[in-house]
Amino acid sequence: MTDPTGAHAGNDVDAIFDDLPSNIDTDVFSVARLYDFLLGGKHNFAPDRDFGRRLLAIEPNGRVILQQNRYFLARAMKVMLADGVRQFLDLGSGIPTQNYVHELAHTVDPAAKIVYIDSDPAAVSHSNYILKGDPNSGAVLGDMVDAERVLGDPTVKSLIDFDQPVGLTALAAWHFVGDGDNPAGVLQTYRRMLVPGSYLALTHATIDGATGDLVRNVQSQYQSVMKNPSPRTRQEIAAFFEGFKILEPGIVNLPAWRPEKPEDAEGAENIWFYGVLGKLIAA
Ligand SMILES: C[S@@+](CC[C@H](N)C(=O)[O-])C[C@H]1O[C@@H](n2cnc3c(N)ncnc32)[C@H](O)[C@@H]1O
Repeated sequence: MTDPTGAHAGNDVDAIFDDLPSNIDTDVFSVARLYDFLLGGKHNFAPDRDFGRRLLAIEPNGRVILQQNRYFLARAMKVMLADGVRQFLDLGSGIPTQNYVHELAHTVDPAAKIVYIDSDPAAVSHSNYILKGDPNSGAVLGDMVDAERVLGDPTVKSLIDFDQPVGLTALAAWHFVGDGDNPAGVLQTYRRMLVPGSYLALTHATIDGATGDLVRNVQSQYQSVMKNPSPRTRQEIAAFFEGFKILEPGIVNLPAWRPEKPEDAEGAENIWFYGVLGKLIAA
């Protein structure tokens, strides 16, 4: 049965989790499962759906924004794959369903390598459940702010060859890293490991524009479940790309980033997420 909000609910949801690892606490909210709920997925439970419904009451456009986040990812992946990138390190990966990085990459090259990093044990358990048996993909429990540790992780080192270009993908995740954790500096630590021809693809909530007050309202809702929700300005997000050449059309709202199909532009005027793709060019 599908519930009226568009998410799946009831016994058929839990039926797919017969062999879900016992360390997943379905009574505790998870932002990764919230996104899955908002995208109409099945990897979510009551606390995720309750918060999601509260959020949708404030921002009815929430589902459209996250869908646009996926559409941006597909277009950015197309650019990176066409340029020969075959390995992807995804920071703040959540639950990789609904056309996420490994699905998009493997459509082009089943041998492409993908590593997902998330600090939420539930997200990583769900990810491993989804990726089970895929020798080219892995999910690692880790804090993306601790770049040295992520880069030294055995799964990362076994799947990613840092002598070859890497697509560093970071979707809807770095707005959960507060300024106190120096997000721009941390991204530079990742950048220093990359060879020219690598990319940084990022989406990020913004307080710029006419939706600024609405975003601040959403931000205060998130404060009850996340430590440091931090929507940023275009200028602050540009600082994340030091050393990268930001590709056209620059730092723009998701629907304005190289739209290809009519659905890419859906809700354009109310999308308060920026999408950016930067390429590392030889100095
Ligand atoms: C909203 S979800 C986005 C998931 C996915 N990237 C997408 O676009 O659908 C943000 C994810 O970032 C993760 N996250 C937040 N802070 C993190 C950190 N410091 N290290 C690793 N993951 C983090 C959360 O657990 C969550 O799964």
